[in-house]
Amino acid sequence: MSTKFKILIINGPNLNLLGRRESSVYGTMTLADIEESCRTRAIELGVELEFFQSNHEGVLIDRIQQSKQHSDLIIINPAAYTHTSIAIRDALLAVDLPVIELHISNIHKRESFRKHSTISDIAIGQIVGMGPKGYLLALDGGVNYLEDSRP
Ligand code: DQA
Repeated sequence: MSTKFKILIINGPNLNLLGRRESSVYGTMTLADIEESCRTRAIELGVELEFFQSNHEGVLIDRIQQSKQHSDLIIINPAAYTHTSIAIRDALLAVDLPVIELHISNIHKRESFRKHSTISDIAIGQIVGMGPKGYLLALDGGVNYLEDSRP
């Protein structure tokens, strides 16, 4: 049973514009659509879900710090901060929760500056290029991971 698991999904800058932003790259689903699909999947999986977005690095870091008390696993799409933010990496290391890195697009076949991630080596794994459905894959993978890690 996975009823007790609490999963936090964090979204970084400009992801509030999904649906209106470069739809050829990111698709036409809005972040609210993605949140709704994740909430439906979370009910099916029997897990508690928190869904969070901010455009501000410090706000993302505050939310990561708070997760220590409230979450079992973090799924994070740090958006452009993926490629620059040592502070987000440090916050994830500080809370020491399992992390799944998620990108809607395949960052490895885009501009070279997107190939580098400050968090991929501290994540359980990375989901890239699967579009908005990647969030559902991350949820499934996160629950599998937590079930496998249960003592
Ligand atoms: C992104 C990829 C990043 O390079 C970009 O800055 C984003 C979104 C993705 O989901 O594909 O904002 O994280």
